[in-house]
Amino acid sequence: LASRQGRLGLDLSAAPGAPLAGRDASAWGYNGSSPGPTLRVRPGDQLALRLHNRLDQPTNLHTHGLRVSPEGNSDNPFLHIAPGESFDYRITVPSEHPPGTFWYHPHAHGHVADQLSAGLAGALIVDDGSEPSVTTDRVLVVTDATLGTGGPVPADGRSRMAGRQGELLLLNGQHQPTIPCATGDVERWRLINATTSRTLTLRLDAHPLTRIALDGITLPTAVRSDTVRLAPGNRTDVLVRPDRPGTFALIATTEARSAMGMGMGPGGAAVDAETTTVATLAPSGPPRPPSALPTFPAGEGPTRDATTGTRRLAFSMGMGPGGMGPGGMNPGGMGPGGQGMTFGFDGRAYDADRTDQTVALGAVEEWTVTNPTPMAHPFHLHVWPFEVLADSARTPTTATLQDVVLVPAQGWVRLRIPFTAQTGRSVYHCHVLDHEDLGMMATIAVN
Ligand code: C2O
Ligand code: CU
Ligand code: CU
Repeated sequence: LASRQGRLGLDLSAAPGAPLAGRDASAWGYNGSSPGPTLRVRPGDQLALRLHNRLDQPTNLHTHGLRVSPEGNSDNPFLHIAPGESFDYRITVPSEHPPGTFWYHPHAHGHVADQLSAGLAGALIVDDGSEPSVTTDRVLVVTDATLGTGGPVPADGRSRMAGRQGELLLLNGQHQPTIPCATGDVERWRLINATTSRTLTLRLDAHPLTRIALDGITLPTAVRSDTVRLAPGNRTDVLVRPDRPGTFALIATTEARSAMGMGMGPGGAAVDAETTTVATLAPSGPPRPPSALPTFPAGEGPTRDATTGTRRLAFSMGMGPGGMGPGGMNPGGMGPGGQGMTFGFDGRAYDADRTDQTVALGAVEEWTVTNPTPMAHPFHLHVWPFEVLADSARTPTTATLQDVVLVPAQGWVRLRIPFTAQTGRSVYHCHVLDHEDLGMMATIAVN
């Protein structure tokens, strides 16, 4: 769709859909579809894209995970496109950009969770022609939605505390679709967790998943396992090789989360764990000797350059305005719907005009991100992917770069971030998008 010369239009509007699970499935879409069209680019391309906002609220476009300029008419999170307006994006993908699975979604502060949960998200694939081919390459975008009679249902204040969760888990906009395939073939699944708040663990009945990439970067070696875990915003690419005909469920478990203890009283702001079928893989044809899995060349590893500096940041959720106690937690009452809570970093809510971190281009920094709150928060930094050195839950690390990491409740992660390319001002935030909209976001300038 996009190439050096190509131009693409994306129109955002409300789009009627075929009923889902027996209910009205109007959604918001890009060019009338949810998820939006898959954008494919090559390193060195300029993505020329006109975004036309037919919604009744501001929006914009974020190319999540791409290492592109965050300034001007590129991946600029500060720009808001007013209702009825169009904007021409020119996003230059560096010629050394790694191939992989990325995605796009709106990023207008205050509207992000509403717009994503209404259906606005799509895949963005960087392809440099170097990767081995597979029989079938599928983009699988996981979203969730709550449907009412008139389309997407907005969340109330209380559900925003723990992050809203749509009732139906959807795969490429469909509820529990069947994926037909041929026995013995090798499939590459590019899984994108585009839900606003769910941390998902996925497994496929009776088949291992061979994980080849995380957040768009090919792993040094493929990892065979029964499950893959994706925080909101994470992607993983897996190889799947069905070895016999039948029907096999792709099952997702959503982790429980809770903002209890934040002064909300009993019963508020908690979400139980849930296990549901997302899709069914239906291989057909006689069993045949499985084809060999292709080997993917290792992607860019973490930098070996010396660390030039360290920083500490902390998530905070507490009673506002600005009145957060140490550690971002403050006992006491609050009104219904979360009024009075402050969401932020280091005790401060997001302010687009304030620069919270200033980093010199070329720096390699070690960041400790702590989470004194009672729920896990997915930490995401735009433009500059990081290596996860360790976390308080002793989650195995992958020796590669990624762009979202789950910071355990009352825990921490240690990151190493090479700021070796791209200058400009951008953001880091919680990828539970209700939290981001409530202020759990901050700014960074790399000069
Ligand atoms: Cu996918 Cu700033 O986000
Ligand atoms: Cu992003
Ligand atoms: Cu959060």
